[in-house]
Parts: sequence; C-alpha cells; structure tokens
Amino acid sequence: MIAVTGATGQLGRLVIDALLNSVAPTHVIALVRDPLKAQDLAAKGVIVRRADYSEPQTLDAALAGVSKLLLISSNEIGQRSAQHRAVIQAAKTAGVQLLAYTSVLRADTSPLSLALEHRDTEQALAESGLDHVLLRNGWYHENYTASVPAAVEHGAILGSAGEGRIASASRADYADAAAVVLTQDGHAGKVYELAGDDSYSLTELAAEVAEQSGRPVVYSDLPEQQYKAALIGIGLPDVFAALLSDSDTGAAKGALFDDSRQLSRLIGRATTPIAVSVAQALKH
Ligand SMILES: NC(=O)c1ccc[n+]([C@@H]2O[C@H](COP(=O)([O-])OP(=O)(O)OC[C@H]3O[C@@H](n4cnc5c(N)ncnc54)[C@H](OP(=O)(O)O)[C@@H]3O)[C@@H](O)[C@H]2O)c1
Repeated sequence: MIAVTGATGQLGRLVIDALLNSVAPTHVIALVRDPLKAQDLAAKGVIVRRADYSEPQTLDAALAGVSKLLLISSNEIGQRSAQHRAVIQAAKTAGVQLLAYTSVLRADTSPLSLALEHRDTEQALAESGLDHVLLRNGWYHENYTASVPAAVEHGAILGSAGEGRIASASRADYADAAAVVLTQDGHAGKVYELAGDDSYSLTELAAEVAEQSGRPVVYSDLPEQQYKAALIGIGLPDVFAALLSDSDTGAAKGALFDDSRQLSRLIGRATTPIAVSVAQALKH
C-alpha cells in the first residue's frame, strides 16, 4: 500500500494521478485533512483516509497497513516541524518501510528561511531510523506562472531575485519523481536535488511573457523589504510575504539554481520548459 499525505493539495493530486499510471487504485491511499475535499479522489477508486498533521491521534489509524509513504510538507509555516515529526513518529509505529519526504533544494546548506523546517524534518528522519528518501524539490514554475495574467495586465513582474538564475520545474515533474521513488526499488537512503533542466533570470522570464503575450512586460527588481511591502499590499499575509521576499533574496544568491539534472534522470524525460508553463498560464 502506498499512501500520500496532503493528497487534496496541488502536488498531492498530481502524485495520485502519477501513481495511478502504474498502481491499482485499491493500493493507493489518499491521506487528507478533509475527506469532503477528496470526493474526486474517491471516485478514482483510491482509498481516502483522514490524516491531520496537527491531530496525531488521526495518524496511527491513517497509516495502518501502509508500506510506502510520501510525506508532502505542510503549508502551515511555523508549525511544520512539529507536524512532520508527528507523521514520522506515526510512520514508525505503523512499520512503514519507506518514507519519501518533499524537502527543499539543498536543504542542508540553503540560505532560505523556509529551509529551517525542512532541515529539522530531515534531522528527525535521520534520527527515526526509518528508511527514507529525500526529494529536495526546487521551485515550481507555477510559483511564477500563477501571476502571469497579472504581470501582463500591469506590464511588470516584481521581485528581489536580481539576476539570480532559477532552475524551476513544473509541479507535475516533481509529482512524477515522487511516483518513481514510491513505485520503484532502490531509493532508500537517497537524497535527490530536484530542479529543472534549464534556468532563467526573472528578466528573461519577463521577456518570455512579453513575447508570448505580445504585451510589454518588464522585470522590476526591488529591495527585499520593498518587495515584501508590495506583496502585503496585494493582500498576501505577512508571513508569506516575508517568506517569498526572503526566498527571492536567496535566489539572487543562487539558492534556486541547480544544473545537476537529477530530476530529468529520475523521471526519464526532460523537465517541462518554463515557456510551456507560461503558455498554459496565458491560456487561462
Ligand atoms: N517547491 C516549491 O516551489 C513549493 C512552493 C509552495 C509550497 N511548497 C511546499 O510543498 C508542499 C506541497 O505543495 P502544494 O503546491 O501541493 O501545496 P498546497 O496545494 O498548498 O498543498 C498543501 C497540502 O498540505 C495539506 N495540509 C496542510 N496542513 C495540513 C494538516 N494540518 N494536516 C494534513 N494536511 C495538511 C493541505 O491540506 P488541504 O488540502 O486540506 O488544504 C494541502 O493538501 C507545500 O505544502 C509546501 O510545503 C513548495
């Protein structure tokens, strides 16, 4: 039995779809915080169980009989260390044979503040004695392409990444990698630094959006605090604005760049070009 936490999230849904390419739905367990949101998953024939990272009492029953588990990192910044530790403890109790965890690119050395909780989770995994595999995911294309329509409307992409190069890949690429380590043998103990085959600066991204949309779009580089204020100004909660502006500053230092091509090797195909994701975003 293969179980996936956060299965109603954007990455989780893609992992479930990727698993169903090679695994019978009756062998796939979608672990979700709210089963009402998982009716489409149940309709695919997968088993749906409730598992809330913040309610450890839900986790033991949720993980019963699970042999391989994908722990998709929580999006509740600041609570993630405790939440992930609860899942790891429950996985030990349940006798899970392999735990795959979605970490962040070069979690051990990353200057990004969001890497702190990933480092703590990696340490908890090391101390747990569980066989595990680290999927250190780089940035999603979608972090940028979600705001492509707004960029076209305003003629600008804002950030504080300078000319830092970003080797992002699509969520679906990372989902395929997760499905590979969950369905093939030989991944226990591995640490994968996952990123796109190609990289770009935000200046280049703006040029791509301008070319595809036929509208002028430029990249406007701001000091971190100004970018954070701009994000708060468009309605982002302070904590996310701080995280995004900090991550951009990290990107300026190369924290989101990688050219090891481990992701394309793992999934056996090239990663999705950013131009393809931009085109998809412009269609909506
Ligand atoms: N690499 C990147 O660029 C990048 C970007 C953003 C985030 N991330 C990280 O990667 C993760 C997956 O990305 P995503 O795009 O799928 O994010 P997402 O769509 O926000 O999904 C997060 C998932 O975590 C679940 N979750 C949150 N708190 C939970 C709790 N207490 N108990 C159980 N489940 C809980 C959510 O459940 P509900 O469905 O019930 O809300 C959701 O399914 C994120 O959570 C975040 O840690 C990575």
